[in-house]
Amino acid sequence: MTTTRQTHVRKAVFPVAGMGTRFLPATMAMPKELPPIIDKPIIQYAVEEAVEAGIDTLIFVTGRHKRAIEDHFDANPELEAALKASGKQDQLEMVRDMVPREVECIFVRQHQQLGLGHAVACADRAVAGEPFAVLLADDFIVQQGGNATADLLAGYATSGKTQISVMQVDGPDIAQYGVVRPSGTAGGVAGLVEKPNAEEAPSNLASIGRYVLEPDIFDALRDLLPGAGGEIQLADAINILAEAGRVDAVRLRGQRYDCGSKMGYLEAILDAGLQHPDFAGPFAALLDARMRKGAAK
Ligand code: UTP
Repeated sequence: MTTTRQTHVRKAVFPVAGMGTRFLPATMAMPKELPPIIDKPIIQYAVEEAVEAGIDTLIFVTGRHKRAIEDHFDANPELEAALKASGKQDQLEMVRDMVPREVECIFVRQHQQLGLGHAVACADRAVAGEPFAVLLADDFIVQQGGNATADLLAGYATSGKTQISVMQVDGPDIAQYGVVRPSGTAGGVAGLVEKPNAEEAPSNLASIGRYVLEPDIFDALRDLLPGAGGEIQLADAINILAEAGRVDAVRLRGQRYDCGSKMGYLEAILDAGLQHPDFAGPFAALLDARMRKGAAK
């Protein structure tokens, strides 16, 4: 008997249960996925990326203090009625189209923040045996043409292997990432080492927050012991699949900002302002004036 592989990926998991300690006190009551890049919350960019790539089921893994994420993607009839009554048509359409009607949102709960791998494992039942994408919203990505998730889905359709998005990181910063041990074949991954010492990093290819995973990742996650930082690490489960020759790396074509860190968030806002269709010019002039004032002191 032959089994046919499912190449069409319909589901995406958004682990959003992290505590966001690097953004305290902002994250006392507000999810770290909701601060905006200009006027759109970080999580919404990731959701739009998934929908644009053809995903029709969004699975959010949430925790305490994350109700606002659910509210953000929920219908808001009172607001819609108010916008309609005041003739604010553009805003009305924006609010209505937050998530296209044919796209379903599912919310599952991670009761204890035991790590990213544990958060993904919480989506097991909702994923229901299908291949699925994972997007970490705080990895904010700007890409001209296509998007990072679509690139991974294309790779998955070709090889049927788990796909991880990677970017080049030179120098000591590599120690902050899951690092690829290349297999020797183009794009092949022989292992993934979570947060190695910089001197022992097996390459300069860092795994970032976009994945397409085979459902057997859940088997690998189930038996996993806590890894780096005492957390259940997704990278450790991917490493098990990689050692069996079942993982490919896909080079990120866009620019990635680590919006889980304050500097990364600032940089994302700065670049978004400098590229904004409405006020790139005035914003650049403002920055220029500030720099000249600083230099004159
Ligand atoms: P981080 O490593 O950035 O952790 O998580 P964090 O708790 O969100 O933030 P800091 O380090 O305390 O500031 C990476 C991703 O994994 C999710 C986070 O929401 C983020 O998208 N995550 C992490 C969970 O969903 N659950 C966890 O238990 C841990």
